[in-house]
Amino acid sequence: MKRVPDIESLLRESRVFKPPAAFMQPRAANWNRKTAREQQKLAAQSPERFWAKMAREHIHWFTPWRKVLDWKPPFAKWFVGARTNVSYNCLDRHVEGWRRNKAAILWEGEPGDTRTLTFGELHRQVCRFANVLKGLGVKRGDRVALYMPMIPELAIAMLACTRIGAPHSIVFGGFSAEALRERISDAGARVVVTADGGYRRGEAFPLKPTVDRACAGASGVESVVVVKRSGEPMPMRKGRDHWWHELMAEASSRCAPAKLDAEHPLFILYTSGTTGKPKGILHTTGGYLTHVTTTAKALFDLRDEDVYWCTADIGWITGHSYVIYGILANGTTTLMYEGAPTTPGPDRFWSIIERHGVSIFYTAPTAIRTFIRLGDEHPKRHDLTSLRLLGTVGEPINPEAWTWYHRVIGGRRCPIVDTWWQTETGGIMIAPLPAVTDTRPGSATHPFPGIDAAVLDDDGAPVAPPDGGFLAIRKPWPGMLRGIWGDRKRFRETYWSKWKGLYFTGDGAHQDKSGNFWIMGRIDDVMNVSGHRIGTMEVESALVSHRDVAEAAVVGRPDEVTGTAIVAFVTPRAGIAAGPALADALRAQVTRQIGAIARPRDIRFTDALPKTRSAKIMRRLLRDIAAGREAVGDTTTLEDYTVLAKLRGDED
Ligand code: WT7
Repeated sequence: MKRVPDIESLLRESRVFKPPAAFMQPRAANWNRKTAREQQKLAAQSPERFWAKMAREHIHWFTPWRKVLDWKPPFAKWFVGARTNVSYNCLDRHVEGWRRNKAAILWEGEPGDTRTLTFGELHRQVCRFANVLKGLGVKRGDRVALYMPMIPELAIAMLACTRIGAPHSIVFGGFSAEALRERISDAGARVVVTADGGYRRGEAFPLKPTVDRACAGASGVESVVVVKRSGEPMPMRKGRDHWWHELMAEASSRCAPAKLDAEHPLFILYTSGTTGKPKGILHTTGGYLTHVTTTAKALFDLRDEDVYWCTADIGWITGHSYVIYGILANGTTTLMYEGAPTTPGPDRFWSIIERHGVSIFYTAPTAIRTFIRLGDEHPKRHDLTSLRLLGTVGEPINPEAWTWYHRVIGGRRCPIVDTWWQTETGGIMIAPLPAVTDTRPGSATHPFPGIDAAVLDDDGAPVAPPDGGFLAIRKPWPGMLRGIWGDRKRFRETYWSKWKGLYFTGDGAHQDKSGNFWIMGRIDDVMNVSGHRIGTMEVESALVSHRDVAEAAVVGRPDEVTGTAIVAFVTPRAGIAAGPALADALRAQVTRQIGAIARPRDIRFTDALPKTRSAKIMRRLLRDIAAGREAVGDTTTLEDYTVLAKLRGDED
């Protein structure tokens, strides 16, 4: 038997890791001690002047700004009056110089096929696809939905959208037809780009048929462009559906980048909130690009000789900001991998690192914990000495996983950059500078210069370390969300109503006496499963839409690998027999409505849900029950909750 390490064994972590010697040499890192101190000083004096300096140093502007920031809480405009273009910054300016023949994208498909796109080739393809979109009638401001596997065409399509100023809305390929339909219609997308399928765990999974289901009825979708990837036979609807390769063959490879206003909408990305309806988070052009490009350069220490690999799917914000935009804008080679981490074997990631000479590796704690369980022999079989920097994102990393990552993957020589941020923040907000900051396993350490993060109490007053409170951002920052698509009220209420003019993150946190931030996780009804946000309400509404269900409450319980596992408490309708068959049907229902990531791990049937007098479900009680009864099977009917509730005082 393999030893399974006790992942949660180290609760309070006091070890301190200095930046590695190789990073501390005066000229070794992009941001060394001296430059970092200068930036911090400037940012402390004036965040606006700091960001303006970053914007000038990292981004090409067709027209300069008249004003750095226009802040009418909660509405910010950054780089007012300036014009730029994201695809120009990611491509043209590199193509105009020596990087023309440098690899922009190193791609590996799950079956083992590979492709390399140089900046020059990527530029031509992006121009072609921009012309394809124009040919389909896409105009500046029109939304384009992308529902694709992790293939280069996804990068091409998103960059093409930015070239012509058509905001994209990328929907993760694991979402169901219903989830896709909701996102297409909320954004009002008239064009959808997809593929016949993609590869995952050794099999081709279909995508285009899901698009067909999502577009059934009046969806407003006029055109569907389909990349041939899996080669499965695909019914194509005449007039609406087009093959990518056919349209591309006809398209010109010249397309001038649109000179867009800094506040032109760049993309919408849906994320879970505390209600059943996902929020379309809106990001705009100039501020976002400045934020992701600057943070990528400083925190990942990007250099021209690096091969950078972020394992996130582009369907999440991490993929937008740190697989594509922040990385290509720096002229860095980005690696994209299509498939599962353990296909065909448990060493796939390590084999990719060895074969491509990956030097910077950015992944999620849940992946690290999976690898710990699979055993050290798999990474040890591969030469990982090309690695020089490691990153993590998505959830608090437990110290045990941190130290394993540091030792087994990083060979004790790589700094670990634990990055705290959100879909809403656009870019990284709290993270160590690799050549400067002392790291502590489990802490994202300090805010990036120009970011005013604080731990506050209910009244908005700072909480003295080491007490816990709410994590807030007190000043606007360039990558901040500009709104929720089509819902100004919800934007105000969700993020700006807790305190006046301050951004509420939804996370709890505390600072230690050295000022390091320790993120404690969500304090609202949002779960974090494998680093992905899933609202309890979303899963509940999927469950109660089943005709045999009277009521449902969903909570998270701690899980060693995924961080949180979803537990559903379900009250069936009168006369309905609760059992494994119903549990299976409910899991299928959730998969159909949201996607497999939201499938409840446990379904527990109960006659009644514990409620307060005001009929609020007592989630805290359910969370305790879910966490405390790990070994209980799916269909156990629980004791009378109302009794439990009374015992605990009948208040939430
Ligand atoms: C939530 C945001 C940002 C990309 C991935 C998730 C949690 C994220 C960390 C970290 C502790 C983290 C927070 C945050 N989170 N990174 N390094 N340490 N917690 O994006 O889906 O918008 O989720 O993920 O709870 O609020 P997202």
